[in-house]
Amino acid sequence: MYKKDFPFFANSKTVYLDNGATTQKPQSVIDSTIEYYTKYCSNTHRSGFGDAAKATTEFENTREYLKNFINAKKNEEIIFTKGVTESINFIASSFAKKFKTIIISSLEHHANIVPWQMQGRVLGNGLEVVNCSSNLDFDFLHFEELLKKNPNSFVSVAHVTNAFGVVYDIKKIISLAHSYGCVVLIDGAQSLSSFKIDVEELDCDFFVISAHKTFGPTGVGAIYIKEKFLNEVEPYQTGGATIHTVDFEKGTTFLNSPYKFEAGTQNIAGVIAFKEALKYIENIGYETIQKRKKELLEYLDNELKKLPDIIFYNNIENCSGSRSFNFAGIMHDDISILLDKMGVALRVGHHCAMPIMNKLQIKGTIRVSLAFYNDFEDIDKLIVALKRALSMLKD
Ligand code: ALA
Repeated sequence: MYKKDFPFFANSKTVYLDNGATTQKPQSVIDSTIEYYTKYCSNTHRSGFGDAAKATTEFENTREYLKNFINAKKNEEIIFTKGVTESINFIASSFAKKFKTIIISSLEHHANIVPWQMQGRVLGNGLEVVNCSSNLDFDFLHFEELLKKNPNSFVSVAHVTNAFGVVYDIKKIISLAHSYGCVVLIDGAQSLSSFKIDVEELDCDFFVISAHKTFGPTGVGAIYIKEKFLNEVEPYQTGGATIHTVDFEKGTTFLNSPYKFEAGTQNIAGVIAFKEALKYIENIGYETIQKRKKELLEYLDNELKKLPDIIFYNNIENCSGSRSFNFAGIMHDDISILLDKMGVALRVGHHCAMPIMNKLQIKGTIRVSLAFYNDFEDIDKLIVALKRALSMLKD
């Protein structure tokens, strides 16, 4: 029903179930990209001629739109990046570096683990990891123990975990962390496509966003930085368009946020087109998206449960969009090769979340990740393909 808005589906027969990796783009996002490159391709925030001024205005319109979309207070609080990975690396290597302890969770993506390890932090010495329950839920009792031992830390956790689709209660995490003097970053890579984010209501300090997982272009992300931290955050890279003055004797002074954080030419077309993705979500509405994803996930779960020897690692009670599983005695890589031949796209492996795979003593999983534009027919085709693959592999 919604696939008609996404040209990919008119051009491909693929049963696309890899939305955790990237989402498809609606026509309006594609049109916006083409319009920039064909009608007013110019750099932003530099030259003053007509097309350049238009490009700057459109770029800044996305900032304004995103600010309102997540209910930030000021445009200065919205900084564009390449994506969530760059956003976390940025904060890790500047603002968060000074914190004695970083607290993350067991289900984090490598992008929220490795930047901290690169600072020489190891478990128990600069890095603490919140346990998960046997259902992979966030262990609040352990979190509070860690907070008691490590007040005033930097807490960096996902909203929706990528490998298993577990949804964390981020409002509770943020408020508990704040009661111990901590500063909190929420990784919204997998969440903005499905959940209404209100940074003021959540009271989060940093919220990182990926456009391409939110029906927008690749190579674009954003970071919300709460106003009170803007002066404390140092740029982690510098260059053109960040500068107020540069002098060999007197050194450099920077522009104010957001410009001091956006060094070099940005992904202009991508940022401009991201606004169309946000508008698209607003038109459909988060309520519709969530209702649809819940129905699809329940149907998927029921159908998968009928397959022999399937192994799940959690139930879907606290999940959104993704279902990760294995089949006893079968390598997930083999399933992926066969499903690809049958036109079904999904991801297998560790999903860049090796620590949780190690904890579960598995190499990886088969992950089906849904978007609201998927339909029951996609799931039926997946099940037929899985049955065929299983029968080939068991022979
Ligand atoms: N982080 C993305 C995923 O989960 C790429 O597949």
